[in-house]
Amino acid sequence: MANCGFALIGFMGTGKSSVAKMLSTKLNLELIDTDDLIESKFQMSISEFFSKYGEEKFRKIEKDLIQDISSNLNSVIACGGGVSLNNDNITNLKINNKIILLNASSESIFDRLKTDNTRPILKSNMDVNTIRIIKTNRKESYNKSADIIIDTDSKTISEITDEIIGMIVKG
Ligand code: S3P
Repeated sequence: MANCGFALIGFMGTGKSSVAKMLSTKLNLELIDTDDLIESKFQMSISEFFSKYGEEKFRKIEKDLIQDISSNLNSVIACGGGVSLNNDNITNLKINNKIILLNASSESIFDRLKTDNTRPILKSNMDVNTIRIIKTNRKESYNKSADIIIDTDSKTISEITDEIIGMIVKG
């Protein structure tokens, strides 16, 4: 697949990183994970980054990073869950990528993340209600950014990846 790219967006715990990995392998495209790049650039976890520098600085670094990779061709980009909150990020991603939104219910997100302590946004409030509230606040920005929307509830990473490939092939 030449001269195309895909950016996966959506709430934390919807499987963006795992799906991006499998999709990039199956389509033979480069894998880029925005959180991984930030972690390796600053040599610290996202949680450490939030405690040390705060969310505002994180969003600035995230935005600069998206701008830097916006000219890349032939990649699958796993975006952090807050990337679509900034319109410039979406404009930049759309230059060379189709945007794929992964959706999941608040209950299944909670189920996947309840023992996870790597998400600073949910750290002190890991419960279904908080997930529902943040998801509702972000819903519009996720939906309006997406070219393709995939529901992930009760599906394996492999099934989600194949569904995406099926939709890409259909055009
Ligand atoms: C965030 C999601 C995280 C990470 C950071 C902020 C968010 O990425 O970028 O903790 O605001 O939704 P994942 O969606 O990969 O967990």
